[in-house]
Amino acid sequence: MSPPLLEVSNASKIYAMGGLLSRRRFAAVADVSFTLEEDRHEIFTIIGESGSGKTTLARMILNIVPATEGTIRFRGVDLATIRKRADRLAFMRQVQPIFQNPFEAFNPLKRVDRYLYMTALHFTDARTADEVRAKADRALRQVGLSLAEVKGRFPHELSGGQLQRVAVARSLISSPALIIADEPVSMVDASIRMSIVNLFKALRDTLKVSIIYITHDLATAYYISDRIIIMKKGEVVESGNAREVLAHPTHPYSILLKNSVLSPDPSRRDELLAPQFSSTEKDIAALR
Ligand SMILES: Nc1ncnc2c1ncn2[C@@H]1O[C@H](COP(=O)(O)OP(=O)(O)OP(=O)(O)O)[C@@H](O)[C@H]1O
Ligand SMILES: [Mg+2]
Repeated sequence: MSPPLLEVSNASKIYAMGGLLSRRRFAAVADVSFTLEEDRHEIFTIIGESGSGKTTLARMILNIVPATEGTIRFRGVDLATIRKRADRLAFMRQVQPIFQNPFEAFNPLKRVDRYLYMTALHFTDARTADEVRAKADRALRQVGLSLAEVKGRFPHELSGGQLQRVAVARSLISSPALIIADEPVSMVDASIRMSIVNLFKALRDTLKVSIIYITHDLATAYYISDRIIIMKKGEVVESGNAREVLAHPTHPYSILLKNSVLSPDPSRRDELLAPQFSSTEKDIAALR
C-alpha cells in the first residue's frame, strides 16, 4: 500500500518566550494530527481565529518551520529528514504555497511573467524560451488568464484578484500534488472572492490536486471544504466532514463560531451558511 499524501502526526511547534530568567514555552501549534490520502484530492480546510496557529501549521507542512515535536510525512518521507538540495527542490515541486497578500508575494519591481518563467525553469523540464513560455501560458489558462494578458506587466498594473490568479498559476507550474493556500482570498476584493474560491474547486476537480485551504471565514469554508479542522490556541478543537462539523458543531468554540453567522430563524440556517453571506470575519472578530 502506498503511504498517504500527507500525514501530520502529533505535530507541535513550541516557541521559547521571554528572557533567560522568565523562560516560558508557548505552543503555536499543539499536538495536531490529520492525514490526507493520496487519491482523494480533498479540499481540507484549517479554520480558526487570528493567532490560532494556522499559518504556523502551514509553514510546518511546507517545511519552512520545523516541528518541535511529532512528525510530518509527505508521501512517506519525514520532512525533518529532507536535507539535500535536490530533495528539497523535489519536495517544493510537489507542495506549493499560495499566500494571503499577492502584492507581498511579488516584487513590485519585477514583471509578473518573470516569476512564471523562473518557476518553469526551476521546477519543470522546460529549457528553451518557447517551452518556458508554453508552461507559463498553460498555467495562466488554467486560472482563466493568458500569457498575452500579463506579459510584461508589473504587479501594480494588475488588480488584486488578477495578481492572486497569477500566484495560483505560478503554484500550478510544477504540477504539484498539494497546494497550501493561506487565506488566499482575504486580501482580494469581496466581489471576486467567490470566483477565486470557485477556481480552487475547479482546479481540484480538473487537475486532481489536493488543497489545504486556510481561512477564518466560515462561509467560504462551508462552501469549499470536504473536511475541516477548527483550531484554537494551537489545538484542533473539532474535525471532520465539513458540512457536519459546521452544521452540528460539538465544541463550545465551534458552536460560538457557527452561532456568529446564524440567524435566530432555524429555517434560514442553510441560507445563512451559504457563501453569499460572508459577514463572518467581522462577526468572528467581535468574538475575540
Ligand atoms: N516566530 C515566532 N515566535 C514566537 N511566536 C510566534 C512565532 N510565529 C508565530 N508565533 C505565534 O504563534 C501564534 C500562532 O500564529 P499564526 O500566525 O500561526 O496564527 P494564525 O492562525 O495564522 O493567525 P492569523 O489568522 O492572524 O493569520 C501567535 O500567537 C503568534 O504570535
Ligand atoms: Mg495566518
